[in-house]
Amino acid sequence: MAGKRTFTMIKPDAVEAGNVGAILEQITSSGFRIVALKMTQMTTADAQEFYAVHNERPFFGELVEFMTRGPIVSAVLEKENAVEDFRALIGATNPEDAAEGTIRKKYAKSVGENAVHGSDSDENAQIEAAFHFSGREMF
Ligand code: TYD
Repeated sequence: MAGKRTFTMIKPDAVEAGNVGAILEQITSSGFRIVALKMTQMTTADAQEFYAVHNERPFFGELVEFMTRGPIVSAVLEKENAVEDFRALIGATNPEDAAEGTIRKKYAKSVGENAVHGSDSDENAQIEAAFHFSGREMF
């Protein structure tokens, strides 16, 4: 059964560009309920652990540098079929391939600086939410 929660980060590029409000508005007006929300800055160790699955990839160093260069806004979102519906809302990893109207099409600059993260499975949504939020920070 598809899960009801997903995890997202508004990445440093979108925070720097002043797009936090517009992105949260698009998320909530698309039917997602915010059940956890905060602004933090990831350390190098945080980013290396969060993206450990990519640690052999050629872009790993740049990804860690990018994700730690400024604050992010992380959130846990609730909706039926949350993971799949949120991936559709954000669009393809590379904004050049993202559908019109998607968050990445509107706000991402490149495949590396692509404005938002969305979990790719129910299992990862739970792991990622727990990485960023304690139980008392999720409602
Ligand atoms: P990935 O999990 O493939 O994409 P998504 O975020 O859509 O689930 O990759 C994780 C992040 O790694 C991606 O959002 C941006 C970065 N990345 C690059 O910088 N270059 C690349 O070629 C790829 C595939 C990803």
